[in-house]
Amino acid sequence: MKEYYLYTFLLGAVALIAVLYQYHSSDNLSSEIVIDVKQRNNCSFGSFLLTGMSFCHHWLTCSDIFREVTDTQLLLGEGTQKIVREGVWRGHAVALNYLKTDFYVMDFKNDLKLLSYFSKEPKVNQLIGWCIEDLEFPIIITEKHPLGSPNKLENLFEKFPNLNTITFRFMLCVQYLEILAFLHTSTEGPFVMCDSNDPEKALSQLLLTNNLTLVINDMDAVPQVIRHNGTLIKCGHAQLFGDLVAPEQLWPFENLPFNDTAMHSYDEKVDIWKIPDVCNYLIGNGPGSSILKLHLFNIHSKCKETDPIKRPTVETVLESYLSIKKMLEKNFIKIS
Ligand SMILES: *[C@@H]1O[C@H](CO)[C@@H](O)[C@H](O)[C@H]1NC(C)=O
Ligand SMILES: *[C@@H]1O[C@H](CO)[C@@H](O)[C@H](O)[C@H]1NC(C)=O
Ligand SMILES: *[C@@H]1O[C@H](CO)[C@@H](O)[C@H](O)[C@H]1NC(C)=O
Ligand SMILES: *[C@@H]1O[C@H](CO)[C@@H](O)[C@H](O)[C@H]1NC(C)=O
Repeated sequence: MKEYYLYTFLLGAVALIAVLYQYHSSDNLSSEIVIDVKQRNNCSFGSFLLTGMSFCHHWLTCSDIFREVTDTQLLLGEGTQKIVREGVWRGHAVALNYLKTDFYVMDFKNDLKLLSYFSKEPKVNQLIGWCIEDLEFPIIITEKHPLGSPNKLENLFEKFPNLNTITFRFMLCVQYLEILAFLHTSTEGPFVMCDSNDPEKALSQLLLTNNLTLVINDMDAVPQVIRHNGTLIKCGHAQLFGDLVAPEQLWPFENLPFNDTAMHSYDEKVDIWKIPDVCNYLIGNGPGSSILKLHLFNIHSKCKETDPIKRPTVETVLESYLSIKKMLEKNFIKIS
């Protein structure tokens, strides 16, 4: 059996190296190879597997964290609610997500709830452990992905110019939709990706793994629509502005001051409204982008229907993206 594991591991490693080599022939992307998702998914609920580990390990508890996790102080990211630093657990680099202020503790707990609820979902960043009650600064530990979020694509392409192709950029769009798709179609859902009032913000909730797939990492603001009793959601309690938020998210009474109690709630169709903006941001303005946007025009127009009921579901948009991807595959080689 040992040989079997070694063999499958080596086979997986070779396949990944081939993929990475193809994308980064001139760059030295990774010293670390992302764990094959099939192996990770073999872990039972409540455990995790990192590259180099032979066995799944149960989620780390407070005492595991006190004993075995060190904070290297390397800053990985910071927002209003959280600060993320690199940590080390038994030689593995991990991401330490610290809550900055008690004011956001409910969001932090929501994040944890969804990270564990969706922990078998390959498009969700892997949960490693947490300690909420016993610490001055509660902590959630997740898998670290050195490429970071796809919201600063220029930085990524500066380091890895070979990645800057229309094929890769459109593949990110498809993956963004795949993330929305499992949120919207989850049996407990739909869940709505609220932190998305501009494309960069939406993409900052995600991480790019070393094998160049997107995972959702931040689920602080992912509320749940409860269909069977008609419970809709609101993205926060403040007034929202601008073209990038869906029309039903805007305060409708121009002459009256904003009043959250009187503001109506809405559903996951707000995510559909934002798809064209996020995807156009990912596609950019480089070679091949105009023709791709032309092909997307039809489906994107439907996403921008003022009436949310008339907007397509994410599965319909994804289907349309996949057929465009197929149709353009041959041409991509020429235009990219
Ligand atoms: C890369 O990893 C993701 C998630 O970790 C997985 O869904 C995907 O299949 C992997 N891709 C390859 C080429 O191994
Ligand atoms: C996955 O789990 C099954 C059943 O628990 C086990 O028989 C199998 O060996 C595991 N495979 C790997 C690659 O861990
Ligand atoms: C709807 O159902 C959920 C549980 O399924 C419950 O928590 C919630 O309070 C209900 N809301 C209303 C308005 O009945
Ligand atoms: C806000 O709206 C609610 C419900 O329509 C109303 O009861 C309340 O008086 C309003 N508050 C203010 C400050 O206008």
